[in-house]
Amino acid sequence: MVALARSHVLQPQVADKVEFAADVVAGLGAAPKRLPAKYFYDATGSHLFERITELPEYYPTRTEMTILRDQAADIAKLIAPGAALVEFGSGSSKKARIMLAAAPELACYVPVDICGEMIEQEAIELRADFPNLKVLPVTADICYPFELPEEAKAAPVRVGFFPGSTIGNFEPHEAASFLRNAAQILGPGATLIIGADLIKSADILNAAYNDKAGVTAKFNLNLLTRINRELRGTFNLETFEHHAFYNRERNRIEMHLASLKRQKVKVAGECFDFRAGETIHTENSYKYSVESLGALARGVGWMPAGVWTDADKYFSIQAFTFAGETAKS
Ligand code: TRP
Repeated sequence: MVALARSHVLQPQVADKVEFAADVVAGLGAAPKRLPAKYFYDATGSHLFERITELPEYYPTRTEMTILRDQAADIAKLIAPGAALVEFGSGSSKKARIMLAAAPELACYVPVDICGEMIEQEAIELRADFPNLKVLPVTADICYPFELPEEAKAAPVRVGFFPGSTIGNFEPHEAASFLRNAAQILGPGATLIIGADLIKSADILNAAYNDKAGVTAKFNLNLLTRINRELRGTFNLETFEHHAFYNRERNRIEMHLASLKRQKVKVAGECFDFRAGETIHTENSYKYSVESLGALARGVGWMPAGVWTDADKYFSIQAFTFAGETAKS
């Protein structure tokens, strides 16, 4: 019985490919059409995303770094001596480095990311740069429960760090369940430091996701190139266009890929019809106010503990503490 079951277990790469195909077929078969944003990040997509963060119109990364640098000492007051710093979706740990330098009495730093390879590599460099710090990477999906390393569990308190306005890429109900999961993992007395892009004029928001150099368009369209390559797709890239706009009612940037004509596209052996102008919804980036994120957090037991913004109020770092009452799902 066990041997039989094991013979059916797929290799990880094959399982990933099967999941990718199933997600794409389901998304293109839905009405309205959609694709999961996590598939943006193949090698080309990750590289293009790095370039987005450096664009003149794309203010969030630069603004968040400025707030962190200017306010590091003040923010670090929320990090008790001996605490463990847990970063959700750490990637290159560029922002965490600012916190690590400002909080020398940290017991350990736990970068958590779905991409194990990247955080293991980054951990080597962090250990060299912060010789007194224990760096304990965890490979996990931050949306689900995961185990912290023993040292982090043994620390008197844990501080979560979630920069990049990644919280805005969740639907509000997903953001709430992320916050609930973070409380569960970090435990009573925890602090959570979140980077959140703020609601602002539509012109500035629209420009940030429609850069003149066309890098965001390339990033969005690369998803179709990836589907063509990995899933035998027949998308003609000349006939699809990047379409991003601010939806004021829902306080979110929506990213779509619009078909410029009526056409049929095949993916993984399945055929999909597009009307002229029909779009595939690829991502949302929700914008919050201090009040709206505070309300969302309070709803699941996190109490506002501090806010830092830039002079233009484009971006915010918001801190919350968790007393220990686990909010119900
Ligand atoms: N979370 C950031 C944001 O929503 C970064 C990001 C995710 C992004 N996907 C993107 C930026 C696509 C530009 C395009 O802004």
